[in-house]
Amino acid sequence: MRARSIVAIAMVLTGCSAPAPAQQAPRAEAPYLDPAVPVSQRVDDLLGRMTLDEKIGQMTQAENSKLAPGEVTSTAVGSLLAVGDSTPPTNAPEPWADQADRLQKEALATRLRIPLIYGVDAVHGNQIVVGSTIFPHNIGMGATRDPELARKVGEVTATETAGTGFSWTFAPCLCVARDDRWGRTYESFSESPEVVSSMTTIIDGLQKGPNKVLATAKHYLGDGGTTEGSDQGNTELSEAELRKIHLPPFQEAVRRDVGSVMLSYNQWNGEYLHNSPYLVNTVLKGELGFRGFVISDWNAIHRIDGNKDDLTAQDVREGINAGTDMAMVAADSKQFMSLLKAEVEGGRVSMERIDDANRRILTKKFELGLFEHPLVDRALTATLGSAPHRDLARQAVRESQVLLKNEGNVLPLAKDGNAVFVAGKNADDIGHQLGGWSITWQGESGPTTKGTSVLEGIKSVAGPTTKIQYSKDGSGIDSSYKVAVAVIGEKPYAEYEGDRDTLPLDADDLATLKKLEASGVPVVVVLVSGRTMDIAAQLPSWKAFVAAWLPGTEGAGVADVLFGDHKPSGKLPMTWMRSSAQQPVNEGDGKDPLFPLGFGLTY
Ligand code: BGC
Ligand code: BGC
Repeated sequence: MRARSIVAIAMVLTGCSAPAPAQQAPRAEAPYLDPAVPVSQRVDDLLGRMTLDEKIGQMTQAENSKLAPGEVTSTAVGSLLAVGDSTPPTNAPEPWADQADRLQKEALATRLRIPLIYGVDAVHGNQIVVGSTIFPHNIGMGATRDPELARKVGEVTATETAGTGFSWTFAPCLCVARDDRWGRTYESFSESPEVVSSMTTIIDGLQKGPNKVLATAKHYLGDGGTTEGSDQGNTELSEAELRKIHLPPFQEAVRRDVGSVMLSYNQWNGEYLHNSPYLVNTVLKGELGFRGFVISDWNAIHRIDGNKDDLTAQDVREGINAGTDMAMVAADSKQFMSLLKAEVEGGRVSMERIDDANRRILTKKFELGLFEHPLVDRALTATLGSAPHRDLARQAVRESQVLLKNEGNVLPLAKDGNAVFVAGKNADDIGHQLGGWSITWQGESGPTTKGTSVLEGIKSVAGPTTKIQYSKDGSGIDSSYKVAVAVIGEKPYAEYEGDRDTLPLDADDLATLKKLEASGVPVVVVLVSGRTMDIAAQLPSWKAFVAAWLPGTEGAGVADVLFGDHKPSGKLPMTWMRSSAQQPVNEGDGKDPLFPLGFGLTY
């Protein structure tokens, strides 16, 4: 009888296009819709109403451009993610918010009106959105050694992320990068598990600030420890070493009640993390007591059967049984749903497993307040790239600069009456100072968003009485200049596309440096890069050397340090190699690096 009355309510619910909760869902009939009911009871009530298809929907995450209009409703998918392909025709805050609301309204038109949780890689600010405030990548944040700053960055990131309709970020990356040849080194706060753990305060900023989003500790486990720094490779370590180096940041994240954990593409001694019931069920959910939900990485369960190109019953069965609660199956969401249904009906995935996954996911949806506030708060949309947010980013840039050499105190640069020649391919290129994971997945050269380049920062901080001359390749310099600033380093890359065997300066940078050095003017090098580089042979010709990492949109923070408005305070987050051949090189391994972990001069 009860079932029939629920069906009647459901018909009323789905028949209405614009939800008006109070009228449609009498509280007595649907405790899960009542915010006054404790979350665990709301979850139980809702679970009791759900069909198997609806439960499987909650465990599924599609990339939003891979679903046709209406398919969020018809498939009852529980989550979407946004990547470059998901970008609305105009990349700006309002269109992103409009798109999110449109998708959310489709979810609210399902039988039980369970809202979507919509995720994005907001890994240094909400950096997929043109006009957002983009912070230094994690390697620079690690250099600040400032956990309170990381917390504040988390708060601002949550505000800008929520302002475009995302309730979830796939951040922070808690990888402990042990080999700088790895293309994701810049996503790591440090090679030191202690430093990475200390920066998990960003989780509090994301999840507990005024505008909270769900955070993700990723990638569990051992992503930064693969052999030769090969992305998605094999981490060959004893269990004791794995626990000592790679587990502590996740322990700390769980202690801070991180809402989700993303599994890693890598293997541990030949076993995929996505198929490791020991590390996921036993260690993470059991031993560590993780009470959030586990998300798989992009099409990563596809690989379980040894073939990464298609999704099979084995991939789904073993992945879900090994502990994935929600599967990131970008374009294959419908296939995932039908495969998982068959596995459940065949008794190869238990209903207990399905209910456990749903309980974990729904608990977070309730805790986030998504049932009460499913749509975008447009007051937050207006804050993207606001002056106070950019000020915080500039502070982060300032604190992240690491001064590694300062012969004859050539720094700080004088402001009055100085004549400064600025050169280098990274001096006036916003895209380069953002790095990968910026507007697009790989990042790009050029003015991809609004920001201040290092050159523009130098001009504004130096003030009107200082002569600033710029030439990208260094041509035109002569002995009339008192100092030359060369802003050189890497171009953007992400993930495996950034893996390198060696890390030398490129030919353009070497040619620029040669011109500057030939003039006899003292040269200050600012290295914009996602990791340490092989510079030992060039360093003797430089008077001063600053590691700027990937500073983001606020290049003036670099200038604040060059001109002494902020005394350098950053400390190396990574041991600086003496040569590429020395990789991997880490604190305590007995090797003789160029600069040790924690090194950093000041004025
Ligand atoms: C990558 C994702 C990325 C997407 C962009 C995938 O191959 O693994 O990280 O966001 O491509 O379309
Ligand atoms: C990356 C993750 C990212 C996901 C979604 C994957 O390729 O490894 O870090 O969160 O794509 O874009």
